[in-house]
Amino acid sequence: MTDKSAQPAIYDDTVVRQFSIMAVVWGVVGMLVGLIIAAQLAWPELNFGIPWLSYGRLRPLHTNAVIFAFGGCALFASSYYVVQRTCHVPLFLSKLAQFHFWTWQLVIVAAAVTLPLGFTQGKEYAELEWPIDILIAVSWVAYAIVYFGTIGMRKVRHIYVANWFFGSFILAVAILHIVNSAAIPAGMLKSYSAYAGVQDAMVQWWYGHNAVGFFLTAAFLGMMYYFVPKQAERPVYSYRLSIVHFWALIFTYMWAGPHHLHYTALPDWTQSIGMVFSLILLAPSWGGMINGVMTLSGAWHKLRDDPILRFMIVSLSFYGMSTFEGPMMSIKTVNSLSHYTDWTVGHVHSGALGWVGLISMGTLYYLIPRLFGQKKMHSVPAIELHFWISTIGIVLYIAAMWIAGVMQGLMWRAVNADGTLTYTFVESVKATYPFYVVRFTGGLLYLTGMLVMAWNVWMTATSGRAARVPVAAPAMA
Ligand code: HEM
Ligand code: HEM
Repeated sequence: MTDKSAQPAIYDDTVVRQFSIMAVVWGVVGMLVGLIIAAQLAWPELNFGIPWLSYGRLRPLHTNAVIFAFGGCALFASSYYVVQRTCHVPLFLSKLAQFHFWTWQLVIVAAAVTLPLGFTQGKEYAELEWPIDILIAVSWVAYAIVYFGTIGMRKVRHIYVANWFFGSFILAVAILHIVNSAAIPAGMLKSYSAYAGVQDAMVQWWYGHNAVGFFLTAAFLGMMYYFVPKQAERPVYSYRLSIVHFWALIFTYMWAGPHHLHYTALPDWTQSIGMVFSLILLAPSWGGMINGVMTLSGAWHKLRDDPILRFMIVSLSFYGMSTFEGPMMSIKTVNSLSHYTDWTVGHVHSGALGWVGLISMGTLYYLIPRLFGQKKMHSVPAIELHFWISTIGIVLYIAAMWIAGVMQGLMWRAVNADGTLTYTFVESVKATYPFYVVRFTGGLLYLTGMLVMAWNVWMTATSGRAARVPVAAPAMA
């Protein structure tokens, strides 16, 4: 009989491997759907008259797939990896982590079936019907138990800042999801929101904005605080700033939601509060961005020949850009121009493709070789190629949307001397056409980069083997 307690414990990376691979798979799928709807906006006949291929049904499939399937899997993989390394213990209840993995995949498949069939609650980023919402809540609780349980068992007294960001993401998303999804079922795939009128809108955009704040921002900042210093082989520029950054960011985000409802039936003072908090949000956002970028101070030369680090630092530049643009767009007079136009779509994708996409890709390039017992990815030139085509793709995408958006806003508000509109709506649609073709080209490049990544990951994973990593010795308190 062997004495089990004498065997060294090992980090539980099975679930990290599973989520990492699925992040790449869902990334390809979600972006492909994005490309299809981008094509449909330029060439509407591409829905072939089939209802489940229509724009209105595929658009929520795209947003759910890229945010919750691609982004979600990348975040689960990285948070499970980070929490073990920073706490010096394997995962708490690894079977529950498996339950989390499989239920989350089930949620994604259920979304991929129900959304094209037209089942929706009609709330942006919260479209899924109530039985799937319940499954999400169950899967999320499993995640929270594993994550916080691991922190509870930690052998290191200090809780590293990346875990604070991941932890706030887990708690906030649980609250947002449960409150915003409250609904009265009227059949298996039909329900009515528990809120009515302007309250419904307010709850929805409290949720929607904080989905951006906690899903697409705080959690990815957790990723940034671990993987940027690791890849740069330097400590975080200022640990003190990271703590100030954390509290300022999570406090401020919660109040900014009304900037999505300017000039609506929402009371005016509520809109103004949303605007003021959005302007304040610039400070913590840039504090975090500077902290990440300055981690490289004294080691800038690494950017020359490390494409993974380049993914991470360029992603932070896009983070800085979109968090400057967002506060500007929240100013009511600016929003009166940008709202309903493609400017918003440009803003979204500078955050989504630039920040969320590139930081996830850099992190996955860091993780995959380590998870499969390799020293590096199968092809480093392929990472280089991916970096350049995705960066050019983003620039094409967002520049096209900025120009189209400002043009639409100006055309819609132009009036003749007698007070009549200068342009009909359809004239603005016609003028937008070339920009939709440019956006499609940018999206095609971005998706091509993702396919290059999928090939590189496949080659690395199949030539390696699942690595068993011993738990690090506890740090001296
Ligand atoms: C190949 C890459 C991509 C392409 C071609 C693409 C294309 C599109 C298109 C055409 C729309 C609809 C815009 C409209 O309603 O006018 C859209 C919406 C959206 N996409 Fe993407 N997308 C891509 C990647 C991503 C990624 C990686 C994310 C997130 C991580 C993302 C998040 C979103 C969001 C949140 C919206 C809704 C925007 C809004 O309501 O204003 N997309 N995308
Ligand atoms: C300081 C930070 C930010 C502020 C103050 C901000 C502000 C805004 C504003 C004012 C809008 C336009 C609302 C409208 O006219 O309908 C908007 C839309 C949006 N932003 Fe941001 N933004 C910030 C950062 C980001 C980041 C980093 C991302 C993505 C990673 C992002 C994703 C989105 C999305 C998805 C929408 C579209 C929502 C929709 O209508 O469906 N934002 N943001």
